[in-house]
This record gives sequence, C-alpha cells and structure tokens, in this order.
Amino acid sequence: MRRYFVGGNWKCNNTLAQTQSLINSVINKLVFDTNKIEVAVAPIFLHLPWVQANIQKNVQLAIQNSSLTKMGAYTGEISVEQVKDFGIPWVILGHSERRQFYGETNEIVGKKTRLALDQQLSVMACVGEKLADRESGQTTNVIQAQLAAIKKELTIEQWSKVVVAYEPVWAIGTGKTASPEQAQEVHAFIRGWLKSQIGTQAEQATRIIYGGSVTEKNAADLIKQPDLDGFLVGGAALKPAFADIVAAANKGR
Ligand code: PGA
Repeated sequence: MRRYFVGGNWKCNNTLAQTQSLINSVINKLVFDTNKIEVAVAPIFLHLPWVQANIQKNVQLAIQNSSLTKMGAYTGEISVEQVKDFGIPWVILGHSERRQFYGETNEIVGKKTRLALDQQLSVMACVGEKLADRESGQTTNVIQAQLAAIKKELTIEQWSKVVVAYEPVWAIGTGKTASPEQAQEVHAFIRGWLKSQIGTQAEQATRIIYGGSVTEKNAADLIKQPDLDGFLVGGAALKPAFADIVAAANKGR
C-alpha cells in the first residue's frame, strides 16, 4: 500500500529565529506513525544546517528547487550533487511559483527531475492548471503535457522516487481549495496516465498528493478521496495547523 505523504513547503518565509521557533514548537512535537505516513519539510537553503541538526528524526528534509546545471562555474546555483552530499533526501521541483516567476518550462522541470533522480534524490514533482486552463477545459491537457516532459527524461524505475503533487495554480495561496471531488477527478486522471504511460507498478505505487490552500479544516475531507495520498502544504505549514494536517493524513481514509 502507498504510504501517505505530507510535505511542508515553507517557500521564502521566515527569519532564522522564526524557523527555529517553528521547528521547536510545531515540527519537533509532531507525532505520527512512520509506517503509515512520511513527512518532509522544505526550509530555505540557508536555514538547512541548523534545521538538519535540530529536527526530530522522523521528519525528513526537502529543498525547494535545485539547479539545472551540475557542480561548476554556475554562479548562484546549488547543484543536486551538493544537495545529496549534504544528506537532504527530497527536492520539490516544478512548483508553479518557479514556473510563473522564474521561467521554468515543462522541459526544464523534466531535466531538473532527471538530474535529481540521477543523484538518488527523491522528487516532489508539481503539476497543475491555471484558472484560465480550467475554465477553457484544458486542465487535463496541461497536466498531461507537464507529466510528459518528465516522462521523457526518466527511466521507468526512476518513477519509484517520484511523488506527484497536483497543485491547481488557482488554489495556491488563495484560500480557494479544490473541492474533494475536483481534486479526486484530477488525481484519478493522473493515476490513469501513470498506468497507460509508465505501467501498473507506477500506477499503484506512486503517491499523488494535493496542494493548494490545504488547512486543518479541509484536510480530513480531502484525504478520504481514493486517489489522494497526502498533501503539499504552503501557508498552513508555517503554523500549528500543520500538526492537524499531519494528524488527518495519519488517520487516513
Ligand atoms: P498554499 O501553498 O498551501 O499556501 O496554498 C501550497 C503550495 O504552494 O505548495
């Protein structure tokens, strides 16, 4: 069976003191069954050394982006070799904020995903449609194109280290969550895509998590959906509400 997965994407938030307080007051007090659920949080790069030394052992670490280039003369970048060397297991790639503000195309996201997987990192690969896509009936076409660009770069085996995060762009940071039915419809589409494009193993084993204004109020209803295996949480991951979201996933369907 698929283990539930909850990611906390802290984005470019928090001073070091705020991150320390979040770790001490929320993250290190999380209680969950690691046989049933995996939890990973993604602080900014600069906070990682402190976080890594002080976080409870059941919570894993992720970074929010990695470089399209390897180690070398690439000013301002952090490469997947360095991430691996530092002992960070997870990378979030293809987040809509990276696509929207930093020009990441489907092709770039596919290439970054391969670089990370080639270093044995695990990837939360984000896909999702904009409001205009949804309103014009393009949701599944957009998602299919985003997934195809990743497929193009990966071997079938590498999919075992991918968690797909469905994050409708219109729901991110807006307070507008996809309804459980809307989320399930897209999650089922993604699962069908995994079956037809990658294989039954990937269909059955790949976690498909939902992101977009997940809160302690809607998590329990969302997790009841059969193809929804957890959450990628932004705003609520910076608050005590994160503990309630983890608890909802730990309780499960
Ligand atoms: P949000 O962000 O929970 O604040 O909507 C989710 C995300 O961007 O991953």
